[in-house]
Amino acid sequence: MKSPFPTLSPDEAALLVADGSTVGFSGFTSSGNAKLTPTALANRAKALHAEGKPWKIGVITGASVGQTLDGALAEADAVAWRTPYQSNGSLRKSINAGKVAYFDMHLSHLQPWLRTGFLGKVHWAIIEVASVEADGTVLLTSSVGASNTLALQAERVILEVNTRHPEFLRGLHDLYEPADPPHRREIPIYTPRDRIGSPVLKLDPKRIAGIVFNDAGDEVKEFDEPTPITRAIGANVAAFLAAERKAGRLPNGLPFQSGVGNIANAVIEAMAQNKEIPAFDLYSEVIQEGVINLIEQGRINFASGTALTLTESVQKRVYGAWNEYKDKLILRPMEISNSPEVVRRLGIITINTALELDIDGNVNSTHVLGKQMMNGIGGSGDFTRNAHLSIFTCPSTQKDGAISTIVPYASHIDHSEHSVMVVATEHGVADLRGKDPVARAELIIANCVDPQYRDLMRAYVKSCGAVHAHCNPDKAFIFHQAFQKFKDMRKATELL
Ligand code: COA
Repeated sequence: MKSPFPTLSPDEAALLVADGSTVGFSGFTSSGNAKLTPTALANRAKALHAEGKPWKIGVITGASVGQTLDGALAEADAVAWRTPYQSNGSLRKSINAGKVAYFDMHLSHLQPWLRTGFLGKVHWAIIEVASVEADGTVLLTSSVGASNTLALQAERVILEVNTRHPEFLRGLHDLYEPADPPHRREIPIYTPRDRIGSPVLKLDPKRIAGIVFNDAGDEVKEFDEPTPITRAIGANVAAFLAAERKAGRLPNGLPFQSGVGNIANAVIEAMAQNKEIPAFDLYSEVIQEGVINLIEQGRINFASGTALTLTESVQKRVYGAWNEYKDKLILRPMEISNSPEVVRRLGIITINTALELDIDGNVNSTHVLGKQMMNGIGGSGDFTRNAHLSIFTCPSTQKDGAISTIVPYASHIDHSEHSVMVVATEHGVADLRGKDPVARAELIIANCVDPQYRDLMRAYVKSCGAVHAHCNPDKAFIFHQAFQKFKDMRKATELL
């Protein structure tokens, strides 16, 4: 049957979006984001700006998206505000220069906030789909993120039909929207494999303004090769978990969550090397390349997430052997993949990466030196706060040893000491459970801090002269200044 929806060029689609609009785009960690229309919007903004006319929009996505969206729009100075998460270099510069208002939020909050109107009206949803039927039934592509809610809440919808995602993906997605309070009931997920929703999204065809055809690949970057340091972090986490199992504190069947980025990828791969850890399930946010390798090696049995974040070559490998994967993968909306209720119920072991952490166990995931935004909190808070066992990893130093990632007093706190149970660096593991602040500081310094910074850190603790390591915030500040002199920490902000 002929499609009832007009086919639009990206430029024609871009003409529909007025200055001042709020636009919700599909996409999560650069998978499944609309690609051609956002770039056309950026070009339109540039042309209008050249004529002295204003054109800026508010941008909502699932999470970080590629250069064709965040990069292009930021470089065209077309973003008034942005939420909930980003990791694009150009956009990061604009945020840190004060040109874009960035609202960094827990990812599990976004979809309920959209439904309840906390973020105002969404004028347009621009959503990548694998196919659309005449009755408005759409099949999503390599991520769900917030696409279902954005498409259902927006006044009008533009679909980017991406033909590289095959129809056989039907069944990968499990779309479910809970009722909002006071009518909310339990989210009926009791194992990572449970399917509770629909494989497709039903849209009112009258709200679909048109279709843009697109065959561009996801802009997922290759990870850095694991380094001796990231391997050592992974091995330390794995040895710790194996010991926990031996001690009877980790029953079989607890799923894992693994964070984003190079370190998380290396850690999850290193865990698989430890054969004392049986094959496990993942109930996570992002299904990164390392996960696919581990499914192939039989070390991960099943992976539930909201995005299949794969480079083109790995995506091809997975699609090419779909029968091997189709019963092992599921993509859910981000309010479900990151649901605090489900995380707590399943008893998830969470492993996220810290940018900086302090000797009390407070973690900074987002702000370099408390000033420069890196990416955002993402799902790390959703998982950490509700974990059965929460672990943070980081290398003990950054920038060739010039910066200690472990500091006396975190310059910004995303996860407080009350949520952080275990810390691991390449030097070892500090198990903070049941420890008072003095014991926590001692453990972190002895086991995790780089040897070149240990004396300095102990001197700080001594200078506080009280039971609680951080009784003197002034001293922490002074220490920070000393640290900058000592190792030029300010370099960190310049390097971003
Ligand atoms: N000071 C200065 N720079 C620092 C730093 C610090 N304390 N810690 C890290 N960096 C820099 C690194 O040097 C690196 O810079 P480069 O790109 O110029 O080399 C960059 O930050 C990324 O660090 P890297 O060591 O490669 O780590 P990563 O890719 O594993 O990312 C985070 C680490 C913390 C940035 C990333 O995990 C993140 O954004 N986390 C927050 C969101 C989250 O946890 N989501 C998971 C939810 S499921």
